[in-house]
Amino acid sequence: MNEHDPKAPRKVFIKAYGCQMNVYDGQRMHDVLRPLGFTAARTPEEADLIILNTCHIREKAAEKVYSELGRLRLLRERRAAAGRDTAIAVAGCVAQAEGEMMLRRAPGIDFIFGPQSIHELPHLIARHDAGERHMVAADFAVTDKFTALDDERARPPAVPPAAFLSVQEGCDKFCTFCVVPYTRGAEYSRPAAHILREARRLVEKGAREITLLGQNVNAWRGEGPDGRRWTLARLLDELAGIDRLARLRFTTSHPNDMSDDLIAAFAGNPKLMPYLHLPVQAGSDRVLKAMNRRHTAADYLRLIGKIRAARPDIAISGDFIVGFPGETEEDFAATLRLVAEVEYAQGYSFRYSARPGTPAAEADDQVPEEEKAERLSRLQDLLAAQQKAFNERFMGATFDVLLEKPGRHEGQLAGRSPWLQAVHLAAGTHRIGEIVRVKVDGVGKNALSAHIEHRERAMP
Ligand code: SAH
Ligand code: SF4
Ligand code: F3S
Repeated sequence: MNEHDPKAPRKVFIKAYGCQMNVYDGQRMHDVLRPLGFTAARTPEEADLIILNTCHIREKAAEKVYSELGRLRLLRERRAAAGRDTAIAVAGCVAQAEGEMMLRRAPGIDFIFGPQSIHELPHLIARHDAGERHMVAADFAVTDKFTALDDERARPPAVPPAAFLSVQEGCDKFCTFCVVPYTRGAEYSRPAAHILREARRLVEKGAREITLLGQNVNAWRGEGPDGRRWTLARLLDELAGIDRLARLRFTTSHPNDMSDDLIAAFAGNPKLMPYLHLPVQAGSDRVLKAMNRRHTAADYLRLIGKIRAARPDIAISGDFIVGFPGETEEDFAATLRLVAEVEYAQGYSFRYSARPGTPAAEADDQVPEEEKAERLSRLQDLLAAQQKAFNERFMGATFDVLLEKPGRHEGQLAGRSPWLQAVHLAAGTHRIGEIVRVKVDGVGKNALSAHIEHRERAMP
C-alpha cells in the first residue's frame, strides 16, 4: 500500500483528447490538484498520477484510449521496478459513457471520473492513497462542478496569452449521430458573475484573449447579476469592458441559436474577432432532417448571408459528416454545393461513425466504409482549396497578431491573426503576450509568415 504523506510533492500528467472543453477541464484538474502538492509532469514517465482525459465522439477517438492504457501498463511496470508507484485515472467523455465497463476491459485503471466530477479528484486521490482501487465517479452534478471550481484557492499561477473559459456545458439538441447529450448531460449555463470573475482572474494572470467555450456556446443564457437571463451577446459586451483583455472569441455555435443580437456583436463589439465556427454537418435537407439538425441548407445559407452582412471579412469554419446512414451520392453532392457556396476559411470533416446508444447507429442503411472514405477525400480537397484561397488573400496584408508561443524554429514566435490563422514571425520569447502589427510575407497551406511592422504602433 502506498501510504502517502499528503503534502509530499507529486507529479501529474494529463493527456487531453477531443475538444477544447477537455483542454479547459484538464487545466481545472491541475488547479484542483495544485493545493494537494501536485505539479505538472513534462512526460508520463516522470508522473506519479496519469490522467487520460478522453473523447467519445467517434469510435477512433474512444479506441485510442484503450491502446494508450495498454502502453501505460508497461510504463507502470517499469516505474514499479524502480520502486515508484503510478496511479492511472480515466476522465472525460469515455469515462462518462462507459464507466464501470472500462474497468472490465482495462483492469489497470485505478479510478474513473466523468466531466462533471472534476471537483471530486481530491477525494478520489485520498481514497486511492488509502488503498482503494477501481472507483467510479460519474454523476451529472454540473452545478457542483462549477461551484467547486469557482473556489478562490484554485487560481492558476500563470495562464497563456490566449485562454479558454467554459461558460456552458452539455447539449439538449440530440442530433441523431452524437454522444454529447449523453456524455455531458443537459444544457447548463454558468452565471455571468462567475464567468466575469474568472475572466478577470485570467486577465490578471496574463491572458489577452479569451475564447468562451460550450458545446452549444451560443445557447448560453446565464443568470446576470441583475437576476435576468443574459444572452451571449450581452456577456460579450460585459467582457469587452475588461481593460487588458484585447480579444474575444466563442465556440462552438449551433446555427439555430445564432440570434440577431449575437450577429450584431460581430459589427458592434470591437473586441470580438471576425471568426465563427458554425457547423452545418451536411448540405442535403433530407440528411439534415434525419440528423435532427432542425434547419435546412437554405436556412444555413441565409444565416451566413446575415453574418457576412454584419461583418463582411468574417472567417467562417464548419464541421461536416460524410456517409451518414442513407446518404446517397446526390445527398453528398448537395454538401459539396453548400460548401462551394459558403467558401469556408477552414473546415473539419469526418466519416460518420456509429456511436453506441445514438439513434442513427440503429439505422439499417449504413454507408460502406470505402464510400465514406471516397466522399471524405473529395470534400477535404474542396475544403483545402478554399482554405488556401482564403489565406492567399492575405499576402501583403497588415494586421495585429497576438504572440502566443515559441514557433517551430529558434528565434520565431507563433501567434494568431484576428481570423484565427496561425502566423509565424521572427521575435524573441520575451514578446510572448504582446499584440504586434505585422505584414504578411508568405502564405502556406495552414499558416502565414509575417514580419513585425515597425512604423505603426499596434492597436490592442
Ligand atoms: N456541438 C458542436 C460539435 C460537437 S462534436 C455542434 O453541434 O456542432 C464536433 C463534431 O464532431 C461535430 O460537429 C460533428 O461534425 C462531429 N461528429 C459528432 N458525432 C459524430 C459521429 N458520430 N461521427 C462522425 N462525426 C461526428
Ligand atoms: Fe452533438 Fe448536435 Fe449537440 Fe452538437 S448540437 S453537441 S452535434 S447533439
Ligand atoms: Fe469529445 Fe466529449 Fe468533447 S465526446 S468532442 S471530449 S464533449
